[in-house]
Amino acid sequence: MTAQRSTGRFITFEGIDGSGKSTQARRLADALRGGSHDVVLTREPGGSPGADEIRRLVLEGDPDRWSAETELLLFTAARRDHLERLIEPALAAGRIVICDRFADSTRMYQGLSRGNLRAKVDALHELMIRREPDLTILLDMDPATGLDRAKGRQGSEERFEDFGLDLQERMRAGFLALAEEHSDRFRVIDGNRDADTVAADVLTAVGSALP
Ligand code: ADP
Ligand code: TYD
Repeated sequence: MTAQRSTGRFITFEGIDGSGKSTQARRLADALRGGSHDVVLTREPGGSPGADEIRRLVLEGDPDRWSAETELLLFTAARRDHLERLIEPALAAGRIVICDRFADSTRMYQGLSRGNLRAKVDALHELMIRREPDLTILLDMDPATGLDRAKGRQGSEERFEDFGLDLQERMRAGFLALAEEHSDRFRVIDGNRDADTVAADVLTAVGSALP
């Protein structure tokens, strides 16, 4: 399960809440399918039945239900199930997997939002996940605009956007730093533009990464 080389391609979208990840992940999947690529579109937390159950545990109900450490374990458990059941088999079959959020979100949200847990996040990733994307698209977005867009959606899920602008600003800066740290696989795209323009830039970035 831990082999990094496989014939498929693993592409992730990252960015703050409301930066347009779901929109752009869907558009990229449609565009690649139109070019006859075999695409799996998925998201985290979730993406497999077991991981979807854990998604409900972490995103619904009282936000103080879990400590930061327990939350980290739950997100990692969900990711492990998603990897075993969906991502690794699809990559082994040569498919393109597009995932809306992955381990970089844990590095940011669990790593930075409630104290500095980054060392524990990295240790757990090394122990249980190991897989890194071939390409990560960071949709960089003005935090206030992202918050406005995200708040436009209604739902029962507790999201980090509910923690407000200060956290969005720290997450944005953290994602940009992460993109520099892993510049080999990250491409930063300005998400503050209309969806068509952003989608065209995403397709260019992905096109140069595909075989
Ligand atoms: P994320 O998955 O990053 O939280 P979404 O793709 O769900 O973001 O987008 C959040 C909201 O903003 C949605 O209502 C979506 O329709 C809208 N949206 C997405 N991209 C754009 C864009 N480029 N310009 C304006 N609104 C957008
Ligand atoms: P998501 O549904 O992608 O929210 P959005 O569309 O608003 O970006 O993710 C839900 C929340 O889960 C989001 O606030 C970020 C958080 N999250 C973590 O805290 N850690 C993680 O590892 C992941 C994947 C998501």
